[in-house]
Amino acid sequence: MNQDQLKQAVAQAAVDFILPQLDAKSVVGVGTGSTANCFIDALAKHKAEFDGAVASSETTATRLRGHGIPVYELNAVSDLEFYVDGADESDERLNLIKGGGAALTREKIVAAVAKTFICIADASKLVPVLGAFPLPVEVIPMARSHVARELVKLGGDPVYREGVLTDNGNQILDVHNLSIVNPAELEAQINNIVGVVCNGLFAARPADLLLLGTAAGVKRLTRQ
Ligand code: 5RP
Repeated sequence: MNQDQLKQAVAQAAVDFILPQLDAKSVVGVGTGSTANCFIDALAKHKAEFDGAVASSETTATRLRGHGIPVYELNAVSDLEFYVDGADESDERLNLIKGGGAALTREKIVAAVAKTFICIADASKLVPVLGAFPLPVEVIPMARSHVARELVKLGGDPVYREGVLTDNGNQILDVHNLSIVNPAELEAQINNIVGVVCNGLFAARPADLLLLGTAAGVKRLTRQ
């Protein structure tokens, strides 16, 4: 199977997992990226079996609406059983790096509200230690240089993602050359830098279930 087929397989596995637990009032949290797009397309075939979705980005909201799935503001939803999203990296404990698509802040907010966070990814995303993928950090534009200097003090090499504005009107620094042995500690440290909106480490709120697409089929990993 190629990478696209693996993404489609995990997307379908996520639909198969959540569908029996949805009813006509259910609202599903939906992530951003190519794997999340596969999930949206697979979920859309069952749009009569749930109420609607909360989107983690404008791009995802557009794709959901294109399928005729109602999109709700998170503020209008009190109960979110599932959040389904991809990742740039996952370790065995289901700590994640996300934000390759610059949607990390809204992704983290929707994940925080959901009871169950299901991460869907092809096998290339599972790593022993996070950090080979540059860690995205969303920053308030006027604080970008200050935040970059502080990230250097933490041992990283931040690179400004030029030409990209997040859905929140902010900028992204991608931090290279971090070997993240304590993801929860680093997540908190980076969040403490003035001017940081959010960083792409999902360790305080990791995934609950990782559906991993492998040549041997979809593996289910739960947080140990
Ligand atoms: C977007 C994300 C994505 O989930 C992450 O970049 C993975 O994307 P893809 O499924 O295209 O590999 O965090 O901000």
